[in-house]
Amino acid sequence: MNKEFQLFPEAASSVASSVDELYFFLIGLTIFFSVLVAGLILYFAIKYRRGNRHVDRLQHPAPIWLELSWILFPIPILLFIFFWGASLFFKIYRPPDNATEITVVAEQWMWKLQQPSGRREVDTLHVPMNQPVRLKMISQDVIHSFYVPAFRLKQDVIPGRYSTLWFEPTKEGEFQLFCAEYCGTEHSQMIGKVVVMEPNEYQNWLAGGTTNEPPEVTGAKLFEQYRCGSCHTLDGTRGRGPSLIGIFGKQVRLNNGRVVKVDDDYIRKSIYTPAAQVVEGYQPIMPTYEGQLSEEAVMQIIAYMKSMTQQAPAAQGEKTE
Ligand code: CUA
Repeated sequence: MNKEFQLFPEAASSVASSVDELYFFLIGLTIFFSVLVAGLILYFAIKYRRGNRHVDRLQHPAPIWLELSWILFPIPILLFIFFWGASLFFKIYRPPDNATEITVVAEQWMWKLQQPSGRREVDTLHVPMNQPVRLKMISQDVIHSFYVPAFRLKQDVIPGRYSTLWFEPTKEGEFQLFCAEYCGTEHSQMIGKVVVMEPNEYQNWLAGGTTNEPPEVTGAKLFEQYRCGSCHTLDGTRGRGPSLIGIFGKQVRLNNGRVVKVDDDYIRKSIYTPAAQVVEGYQPIMPTYEGQLSEEAVMQIIAYMKSMTQQAPAAQGEKTE
């Protein structure tokens, strides 16, 4: 078959066939009832036509069992579809813990990607076959949408907040990547491909390339360059700002009494709009870094903070709550 034109894309991820099953079930159900209703309309139109004297055309009220049946009969069908769809939804949107994190920054009109090993690419994403991959995505400007038809997956990539997409490719090869949200003049050119490789080949590919600095290493350099350490100590002692050692994933109390979790979005917000979330007991003196640090740089700093939490000695006596 012509590979350029396919009525139905290949199914190349662990969820693709499940999505197709639900899709075809809905199509089949729709066709069944459409044909049934259209057929009945036609049948009754002929049977009760003007001039057919053999039928009684007097208006009777519909009997109660008939009224009830068209209310009660569709309910189990609809609930069945609901629970089927919901369970699939949870499967698609709950990433497994062991997924490899790859960062995605969308920008008019390209996809910038970075592997955990540091290798970067634009518009092409290399991933290992039969291994879960999680994309942490954000937009530098307007709303874009990461869409891989062969994986049956699409997720908006929005400015100001991280969104997540995970998948497990099941077929080796190249698959098309589209931007599925109108984002300006060259929206239709914002296309790329996902290259699925054997895990060994993928490891070899990772080792190649020129930009192989892991994000947390770049993050550490940025931390130096922007002198973050002049307020935020890395040894747990108190500075002008809270220490950043071992805080990732913990809860922190703000000066407005709210308790929030230190996660990717919290750190990003603290860098761009520091005054919005000031930790209890500190002054709102941190300047904003909006316009100075790109979304990529912020992701790298977050990677650095995560790595510090992983390295932090457990003996510090920190509580999770
Ligand atoms: Cu990006 Cu359309």
